[in-house]
Amino acid sequence: MATVSEQKSNLLEQFEETRDRTLKLVETLEKDDFVVQTAPFTSPPKWHLGHVSWLFEIVMNKTIKNYKIYSQEFNEYLNSYYHQFGEPHDKDKRGIATRPTVDEVLEYFHIISHKVADILQNELLDDKTRQLYFMAIHHECQHQELLVYDLQHLLADGYIPVTSNPLPVPSQQELNSVRIDGGLYSMGYSGNQYCYDIELPEHKIYLNDYKIDVFPITNGQYIEFIEDGGYNDFTYWLSDGWDKVQNEKWNAPMYWEKVDNVWMTNDFLGKREIKPNEPVCHVSFYEADAYSKWAGKRLPTEAEWEKAACWDGKTQTKTIFPWGNESPDISRANLLESYLWGCTEIGAYPDGKSHYGCHQMIGDVWEWTSSEFTGYPGFKSGFSEYNDKWFTNQKVLRGGSFGTPSISVRGSYRNFFRLDERWLFSGFRCAEDI
Ligand SMILES: [Fe+2]
Repeated sequence: MATVSEQKSNLLEQFEETRDRTLKLVETLEKDDFVVQTAPFTSPPKWHLGHVSWLFEIVMNKTIKNYKIYSQEFNEYLNSYYHQFGEPHDKDKRGIATRPTVDEVLEYFHIISHKVADILQNELLDDKTRQLYFMAIHHECQHQELLVYDLQHLLADGYIPVTSNPLPVPSQQELNSVRIDGGLYSMGYSGNQYCYDIELPEHKIYLNDYKIDVFPITNGQYIEFIEDGGYNDFTYWLSDGWDKVQNEKWNAPMYWEKVDNVWMTNDFLGKREIKPNEPVCHVSFYEADAYSKWAGKRLPTEAEWEKAACWDGKTQTKTIFPWGNESPDISRANLLESYLWGCTEIGAYPDGKSHYGCHQMIGDVWEWTSSEFTGYPGFKSGFSEYNDKWFTNQKVLRGGSFGTPSISVRGSYRNFFRLDERWLFSGFRCAEDI
């Protein structure tokens, strides 16, 4: 068991950094911005702030004898989907509730911050309880990213970030792929820090030889697919994907619009012309899969993606990140703390490339894989209803995005979304059989 001082330096520090980062994301919002839900798949900023605090209350309730929940009304509004804690409020009606008020939720956020900080500072927790607090911190990081998606949808360049940095200059842009030898690969988390239950257990999987793209697919490549009639030809599409194209009238990634024959997007950086060398962003699994078919390639499985990201053939070992075991920093990946508020061009992070030479596997855009989201062989749930109840109708994405807090992501991290979702910062790279 850790001593109180070890616990403080790790858990408390991560907790305080995380709470500060949440507040920083909403620091410049007007009060009106906190309440609005712009689409059923988004949530109001007020709800995110309350919900992440609510999950800490759930942990306290589970681990402290006779804990008294702050408010039954909050408990009902802020419960996302956990039936074990009561009937959750309708997700698509989070934006029509004016109670609890923004001020009440902010007060709640601070009260919970103080309560948790006090526990982490002064109490010696057992391993299981510490894991639950780590989980709640990482859960808050996930919501920071969702909040960033929602802020883009709500405000685009009307959002004023507290911190904003200039984009780095790309160094290498030759589109290519690398060969990766197959064989047995040990997939899953192998480090000794916090990871989610779905990254475990590490297990062996057999891979055939394959090739994988050095870079994520770019806007320029994706425009070729569009201009070649990709959205008008059912032969590239899965049946459900083709239905989506027809019913939703998809003809390009989300946020794209053709104005005077020029493809434009509208995001944190404003209404602007599409840059051909940025990774394509805001595509669904269906679009990633259709593009791959059009290109005569396919999406990688998550095991293929992970081996390309983390396996070091020279030392015959796996690293936690593409560049090694050191935590991400702004020289290696475009993650939330880079505060760039958009994708960088391909080749912008040569220091972050994998042992095989694949660039930007961490950061910029989440990458769709062809793998179904399900438990690894021997999976054991770490928290009921958190991850495991989504083991159906979702695909795995890997690698994090420019909205992902750096403590959230690693080579083994598995994100998952429905196949038609595209408001997240999602792109892909292709693989090929050889
Ligand atoms: Fe949540």
